[in-house]
Amino acid sequence: MSQLDCQRIHFETIDSTNTWAKQQIESFASDTLTIVTADFQTSGRGRFKRSWVAPANVNLLVSFCLKIPLTPFLGNIPQVLALSVCKSMPDIPIHLKWPNDIILDDKKMGGILCETVQVTGGIGVVVGIGLNVNMTVESLQQVDIPATSLLAHSGIAWDRELLLDRLTHCFKNDLTFLLKEGFGPFLSTYRQKLQINKSVSIQDGTRRIQGSFQAIDDQGGLILRLADGSLKTLYTGEIVPEVTDAVEL
Ligand code: BTN
Repeated sequence: MSQLDCQRIHFETIDSTNTWAKQQIESFASDTLTIVTADFQTSGRGRFKRSWVAPANVNLLVSFCLKIPLTPFLGNIPQVLALSVCKSMPDIPIHLKWPNDIILDDKKMGGILCETVQVTGGIGVVVGIGLNVNMTVESLQQVDIPATSLLAHSGIAWDRELLLDRLTHCFKNDLTFLLKEGFGPFLSTYRQKLQINKSVSIQDGTRRIQGSFQAIDDQGGLILRLADGSLKTLYTGEIVPEVTDAVEL
């Protein structure tokens, strides 16, 4: 794929940038990265049908949209976006939680929801990202999981437009490279950025899988050794806190 053009569509308020983009993507230009942003979402969505709530005008709420022929690297697009986030702010010690949560100071700083729709001649990819930029410590305490923001980490307010420009620049280049070369060139950085315990529990829909972490395979999948000794590779799901047996005191 040659260099992508960029087009930006901004809303002050929208239900969800991902929902809107999925409805409109057929009309978006080809060979173009369409960037849909909002200052506020009334029905922001997260992975696994969860909601994504953010106060107005403080965070980045973005859907990067692209129409492409079907590619074997579709599942790597959100992983590459997570790496682009790291690259776009090199002084911030970001880690990733498999497959693509953005972690700072052991708390969630951002999340990615990648959705696809069929479009004429290929597939429409909507990769939505929510990044906690200028959320205050007080509003972070309202989030139902341990969460942080760039402001909480650094003590300074960040320019959201500048961050978006840098992220767009990195993601545009990284995405073009992924679609041409595959995930191989990203693997070693991806493996380095991952924070993962030896013993992990994965929730994938209603399925919970427990095992010991072995490796990240060449496609970005998580290889676990299960209790019966067999190996299992997962490409979807999320790492959840382990259920430990109750200890009698
Ligand atoms: C997650 O569950 O970690 C993913 C959260 C993704 C949130 C972003 S905000 C912009 C885009 N629009 C949405 O409704 N969701 C994504």
